[in-house]
Amino acid sequence: MNTQFPIPELWERTVGDIAATLPGATAVLRRFKIDFCCNGDLTLDAAAHRRGVDPDELEHALEALGTGAGETAAPASMDSNELIDHIEACYHEAHRRTLPELIALSRKVEAVHPEHPKVPAGLSDALQQMQSELEQHMAKEEAILFPAMRQWANGKFDIPISELRHEHDDQGTLLRLIESLTDDFATPDGACRSWQALYVGTAQLAEDLMEHIHLENNILFPQFAATESRT
Ligand SMILES: [Fe+2]
Ligand SMILES: [Fe+2]
Repeated sequence: MNTQFPIPELWERTVGDIAATLPGATAVLRRFKIDFCCNGDLTLDAAAHRRGVDPDELEHALEALGTGAGETAAPASMDSNELIDHIEACYHEAHRRTLPELIALSRKVEAVHPEHPKVPAGLSDALQQMQSELEQHMAKEEAILFPAMRQWANGKFDIPISELRHEHDDQGTLLRLIESLTDDFATPDGACRSWQALYVGTAQLAEDLMEHIHLENNILFPQFAATESRT
């Protein structure tokens, strides 16, 4: 614990917890480039040190939001604009950040252990396909769907969400394949560090992607169901 921080209970909380429970905190954390998604289990103290941010400035910004006691910024209680911000910052960015590394790691593991009975043969191709499909899908959401949803409050919305839902189904199918190839992310005894890192990272990707799809399918999209163009 950094003793220069005067609010220990804040600095000892994880950034993921702060992001989820202190309304407005995600915008502040983003501004300070603190990752509250993939590294949400770091304490604020550790995350701030990692990013080299000015602790006084960060504390001021978070204090200005209030204590957050008893309040919640859970995705289910966010309005659509807040939820879109959350999805883009937590999931779209995380997928873009983690997939290239996972593809590189899987290529390495497949190349180094080709004779191992548990080698995840084909994982790098599956991850590559996921990256390609996700990139197109997310670009569509960012360029067309989300802007339309933001404007919907003004009475403008005419986007076929069903196409996006179908793409989510395809992503789910690819996820099942990845789970199968990795034996549900269970590394064999004696697996090298790259192999372990690959499965830890891929398991996190799977968890993130499932949550991402859940937020869109079950929380965001239904808010537009009345005007949704089904094809
Ligand atoms: Fe998305
Ligand atoms: Fe999506």
